[in-house]
Amino acid sequence: MRHLINPLDFSLDELHDLLNLADDIAAAPEKYQDVCAHKKLATLFYEPSTRTRLSFEAAMMNLGGSVLGFSSADSSSASKGESVADTIRVVSAYADIAAMRHPREGAPLRASMYSRIPVINAGDGGHEHPTQTLTDLMTIRRRCGKLDGLTIGLCGDLKFGRTVHSLITTMVRYPNTKFVLISPKELRVPDYIYNDVLKPSGCRYVKTTSLEEAMPQLDVLYMTRIQRERFADPNEYRRLKDSYILTPDKMALGKPDLAVLHPLPRVNEITLEVDDDPRAAYFEQAQNGVYVRMALIMTLLGLTEKPLADKPASSRELVEMHCPNPRCITGVEEGVKHLFHRAPDGVLRCIYCEQEA
Ligand code: NCD
Repeated sequence: MRHLINPLDFSLDELHDLLNLADDIAAAPEKYQDVCAHKKLATLFYEPSTRTRLSFEAAMMNLGGSVLGFSSADSSSASKGESVADTIRVVSAYADIAAMRHPREGAPLRASMYSRIPVINAGDGGHEHPTQTLTDLMTIRRRCGKLDGLTIGLCGDLKFGRTVHSLITTMVRYPNTKFVLISPKELRVPDYIYNDVLKPSGCRYVKTTSLEEAMPQLDVLYMTRIQRERFADPNEYRRLKDSYILTPDKMALGKPDLAVLHPLPRVNEITLEVDDDPRAAYFEQAQNGVYVRMALIMTLLGLTEKPLADKPASSRELVEMHCPNPRCITGVEEGVKHLFHRAPDGVLRCIYCEQEA
């Protein structure tokens, strides 16, 4: 059985089969309306979400399946102290596939270790958000006609923005990708992304604080919200929250075929006037999120023409150590072993949240 926890869980070929299926679904959704008849999706959302949860629910309904679940930790047994390991063992008896969003980094990985049904990471803390990346890829490919050789500007909260981490991890796999990392110094991408993802990939990347300077070279501009809920200090959030605001003036500096993406929700980092610019792709991106999640559900349930092969068990060596990350699942989950593996840069990192030992 396969899960989608990390963006690298799918090979490039598997990813392309999935994107092709999503394009086919977009062209003729009615062809797929009964594919998941009698199947159930559990949405286990311990953290607020509009798009991701509703797009998963819409995706399953479009496939003729049904949906059960909860939309906040307060309305689940987590409020009674139940572990994710126990929750998923129970949910495995109720549903055929589960999508989990959790404020703790590594929670969906933990769940997948105990699950009898495929688990999809729908966002874990400030860590990863692989299904948003599928949405982003589908949108970039449809807008730019390709996924290689693109200059991608990522702007805003690159530290806590999990969609950014998953998108970089995926785009380094395509030849000649160049990244322009636009953020305040305080919100630069985490070290593990530099050391384990960007540097070993050989992709070119530059860091800048200026959106204006970056604009003319970009094929894709990926705007993000400053992630208020992940700041320990509210004053720091207030100081940084208006760091970047995309306006028509700044859009005027961009290429005519630029694609502007945003995972949404937007707060104020893109003004409403930009919505009328044909280069604004973020609402189309949200629509693509339904098609790509339909394709993902079908793929993980083995309902496609070319079913996924099982993955060989990982042979990486694991070491037991304490994880110091206050946002890691190891800090709250009963009975969890704190396990570390040696990352490509030689550093020991927590298998759940990628925090350095
Ligand atoms: C993103 C998320 O939850 O990380 N939203 C989403 O899934 N569409 C981005 C965000 O919340 O800023």
